[in-house]
Order: sequence, then structure tokens, then C-alpha cells
Amino acid sequence: MKATKICEGVYWVGAIDWDLRNFHGYETEKGSTYNAYLVLDEKVTLIDAVKTGFENEMIARISSVIDPAKIDVIISNHAEPDHSGGIPALHKLAPNAKIYCAAGAGVKDLTAYYGDLGYIGVKAGETLSVGKRTFTFLPTPMVHWPDNMVSFMAPDGILFSNDAFGQHYATFERLDTECDLPEAFVQARKYYANIVQPYGMQTAKALAACAGLPIQTICPSHGIAWTKHIPEILALYKAWSAGEQEDTAAVVYDTMWHSTEQMAQAIADGFAACGIKPRLYNLHYSHNSDIIADAMTAKYIAVGSPTLNNNMMPSVASFLTYFKGLTGNKKKSIAFGSFGWGGQSPDQVHEMLAACKCEALLPPVRVQYRPTEEQLGKITADVCAALKGE
Ligand code: FEO
Repeated sequence: MKATKICEGVYWVGAIDWDLRNFHGYETEKGSTYNAYLVLDEKVTLIDAVKTGFENEMIARISSVIDPAKIDVIISNHAEPDHSGGIPALHKLAPNAKIYCAAGAGVKDLTAYYGDLGYIGVKAGETLSVGKRTFTFLPTPMVHWPDNMVSFMAPDGILFSNDAFGQHYATFERLDTECDLPEAFVQARKYYANIVQPYGMQTAKALAACAGLPIQTICPSHGIAWTKHIPEILALYKAWSAGEQEDTAAVVYDTMWHSTEQMAQAIADGFAACGIKPRLYNLHYSHNSDIIADAMTAKYIAVGSPTLNNNMMPSVASFLTYFKGLTGNKKKSIAFGSFGWGGQSPDQVHEMLAACKCEALLPPVRVQYRPTEEQLGKITADVCAALKGE
């Protein structure tokens, strides 16, 4: 396995995980990469260090350029094990390499995972010269853990951004100019929605901190690096982190005997009749993480469940739990569902949506047994009236 040259003296030496299909609940249908970058200067520097289990791939790629024992500096922008897992193996090969990470949380997290390897904590704006090049460290807490930081390398203008601007996208190509660009943007959106979304405010601060930097290349620690398309990805991050919404509605449901499904369609008709573009997601077929990626910018969300054994269906509880953790902006919501007896699920969904910072557009909508054409028509009309009354 060989390193890939990014520019003069800078090499990608990471690992490609073609088989990754689940990243703590996030369906990663395109796999991922764990990027590490090698900089050859007076001091040999490695930025980030791949996931546990991929150390040998990284070391092989480093070895195609230089003996790993010659590494002088390791910059660990983030202690999560998909970026720091290779540090112990590198420490064995290059025991004198100095390991830099965020002061406080970075030192604490790396020590917890790997013991005391003499980590050097750096603060906002601190610099490190490695020869002709100088790194400036900028903490980006909560993008994605408290310890995250980015490292800007001058004069090349490379921002090593770790999780920020990343994509779970396994590909042999390393740059936005070489890869399937639409796919990179799809995966960047899904990544933001499923990893970064709850921390929009912190992301906006991180973007502001980077705004004055003369960035030529953004090298994240997952997926491809951004070169020609930096303005587009920065604009998208700005919009996403600001919680910008579109006139769309996500209608999410499970169904037992198609009654809740019919209600979902009636609700979607109500949105469509009022100029809001609906999209329906049957939880039997759609994965939580795909729904979250689509719904991130939706102004409205409707969630429906039949009542099963006095409860909402487990698939709906799973979606709402996932949604609660990732709610990035306030949406208007509708809870709905059919029932045979009992009928608790619409209220339960309503309560969960309130816990997801949603504001109810309508009181919970319920139908016993199969909805009649008249009931479905009323649901559509009620949704439309509520939208017109906003
Ligand atoms: Fe890719 Fe927060 O780790």
C-alpha cells in the first residue's frame, strides 16, 4: 500500500474502510476512510492516526515514503478512536515523537485511551514550526467531541479539519477534483446531519475562527479533501450550522395494517396542497440516518405510529430517540397514528416530538381502525388549514 501525494511534501497515509456499514447507528453505505497525513519537513509530522485495526495499512503507506521511526511530531486533532487508534503502534515505532493535542480535553481523552504517552496540550492560536512550515492550532470543541481541534499549516494553506467537512465515503480518489463530486456532497450532508448537527452553534464559531485563514485545501479525516470546491462546502456548512430550513416536510411512520400509512399520505397531501414539498418515509424501508440527512433542513416533520401493546411501535421509538439526539433546529410537527383500542401512540409521539424541540402544528391526530375517505379528507384539510393559519 502506497502513500498518495496531496502536494509537495504532503502525503495521504490513511486507511480505506470499504466494509464499514454502521458507525454507531449511522448507516454508512459507502464505507469510510480514516485519513492521516504525513508532512516531510525538517521535522517529519503526522496528522491524525486512523482507526484501531487499520494501523498496519497506515504504517505501510508511511513506509512507502519514509521510515516511520523518523516521525518527530504527531498531531492528534481528535481522540475518538477512529482517528487516534494508530497512536500506540506509532509510539512503539517512533517513541521520541512528540504528540500534540488540545490542552485539557485532548490530553485527558488520549491519556484515558492509551495511558500517558507524554502528550503536549496546545491552546487556541498556539503555533508549532516544523521547518519551512508552521502549524497553528484552533480548538473546535464539540465538532465533534470536547477535544476537537483543527490544525492550519502555512504556507501551504492546508486546514487539517478532522471531523469537520468529512464524509463517510470510501474511495481511491483523494481530492474533490478526482472523485464523484455529487456523491461527496451527498455524503458530506449525511455526515453533517448525523455527526455534527447538534452542535450548530459550535460549528458556526469554528467557521468564524477559520474565516480569516488563507485556506487552499481542506483535509478532513474522513473522505475526500476539498480543493476547488471549498466555497461550496463552506457555504453549505454555514447554512446547515445556521439551521436554515426549506419548505419541505418529512412524514415518517410505521404501519401495521396500512391505516397509519393512509394517514401519512393524507398528511402529505395536506402539505403538498399548501406548497410544502413532502417526502414519506416508511420506517420499515428507510434508515434513521438517511431520514435525518433529508429532514435536517425540513421546516416540518410528521411522525406516525399505530398503537402496539399500549405503545408506539419500537421502530418509531428508535427514530424519535435518534432524532432527539440530533435535533439541530426547531421544526413544526404533527403526531399521528391509528389504533384498535387503547390508542396511546399519538400522544406518546407528540410528547417525544416536544422533547425534540418541535412545536405542534396540530393536536395529535388519531383514527380508530381503518380511516374512512371522509376522515382522510379531513386530515388533509386540517393540515392545510393549520399551515394557512401560521
Ligand atoms: Fe471521526 Fe469524532 O470521529
